Amino acid sequence: MKGKIAVVGLGYVGLPLAILCHSKKFDVVGIDIDPSKIDSLKRGKSYLTDLEDSEIEQLSKSKHFAYSSNFSTVKEVDTIVICVPTPLNNKAEPNLDFVKKAFENMLPYLKPHQLIVVESSTYPGTTEEVLKPMLEIEGWEIGQNLYLGYSPERIDPGNQLFSLANIPKIISGSSLQCLHVLQDVYKEIFNELVPVKSTKIAEMTKIVENTQRFINISFMNELSKLSENLDIDIWEVIEAASTKPYGFMPYYPGPGIGGHCIPVDPLYLKWKAQELGLKTDFIDLAKKINDEQPAYIIERINRLVETGGKLLVIGLTYKKDINDLRESSSLPILEGLIDQGYEVQYHDPFIAQFTYHEVVYYHQDISSESLADYDCVILLTDHSQINFTLIEQKSKKVFDTRNCLDTTLPHVYKL
Ligand SMILES: NC(=O)c1ccc[n+]([C@@H]2O[C@H](COP(=O)([O-])OP(=O)(O)OC[C@H]3O[C@@H](n4cnc5c(N)ncnc54)[C@H](O)[C@@H]3O)[C@@H](O)[C@H]2O)c1
Repeated sequence: MKGKIAVVGLGYVGLPLAILCHSKKFDVVGIDIDPSKIDSLKRGKSYLTDLEDSEIEQLSKSKHFAYSSNFSTVKEVDTIVICVPTPLNNKAEPNLDFVKKAFENMLPYLKPHQLIVVESSTYPGTTEEVLKPMLEIEGWEIGQNLYLGYSPERIDPGNQLFSLANIPKIISGSSLQCLHVLQDVYKEIFNELVPVKSTKIAEMTKIVENTQRFINISFMNELSKLSENLDIDIWEVIEAASTKPYGFMPYYPGPGIGGHCIPVDPLYLKWKAQELGLKTDFIDLAKKINDEQPAYIIERINRLVETGGKLLVIGLTYKKDINDLRESSSLPILEGLIDQGYEVQYHDPFIAQFTYHEVVYYHQDISSESLADYDCVILLTDHSQINFTLIEQKSKKVFDTRNCLDTTLPHVYKL
């Protein structure tokens, strides 16, 4: 084996990374504070849609893979990779509690010459200004007897085209020596490394990638409203513009941007800018447009169906083919429609049930008969396994926010 790695936080990022490290011949221990996750993994059950139970079962049989909720295992490894959440607090500001807690938990077990790599997305300066001092105050000399690096995670759950090993990996160190130590380990795991000069640059790179998407998707949402008023199909415009061989990158409108990254990371940057007394007008505008999008979708439904009508919402998750509801705009849309007095049901093969105002809503199967029973079907998430042809053929009316259906049909309406 090539060495021992502890992956802290076994969610959408940490679990696939732990599996990749194992496949590259590292001894791996996965650490998570959520006992239900550890239990599920020990029983060979996957909680991620990208991973089959059989893959987890195989891992649990491996002598080189272990799961634990106990941080003392950290003393047995060479490298510790931190993949815990970095959400927003209730003031929409960075909440680094999970990262700080992970550091606090492992501090008593650190041993000389270990490498710590932070993969959680965060604002520029976190590694140097928040995390490094937590180690130094305990007497560690970073770059001398302990190594600290930052390497943003670029995984796209549900995306079958890019595997974790094939996505170029940005790496950075708290010092040159830290970068070299990180490089030596990560070159064994990832096909292409992209070293940058500082942890700040690596942190900013990740936020810039996601902020660019945030701003551009919001722009497309604004354009889709304008195009509707101009009686122009925005999807056809984007398709046509995409034929330009340079300078145009397609982004698409939708029901609103969700997930743990795209709507969150730009606000980390906004907070950092505010700390310096600077403005982030693009981010503010994109956030405003994104926040308004669920209300706009509801307004479009109001134009198609009278209040009290029976609606089927297709897709609760923020994007296709995953079971992640975090920041999903489907939720405010569904809730808003319920509040307005519509009779709302949903279909999402990835979400068995959902509670709103203490009422439990269950995933509904769709069939020719059931579809014909709704006054309107609202397509919010385009999971691959959904039968779009059946929806197109059997629904009385459909509102499609993902450009999946044939709009030449008179009962199909598009964003
Ligand atoms: N989900 C994505 O698509 C994605 C993509 C790129 C980057 N990221 C970033 O990666 C980080 C992790 O995101 P995620 O989607 O994997 O989150 P997640 O919620 O799916 O997983 C995080 C895991 O960390 C565990 N955890 C929390 N605190 C812990 C602690 N102190 N010690 C041990 N375990 C702890 C949680 O129980 C959970 O299982 C975030 O910073 C996120 O922004 C996410």
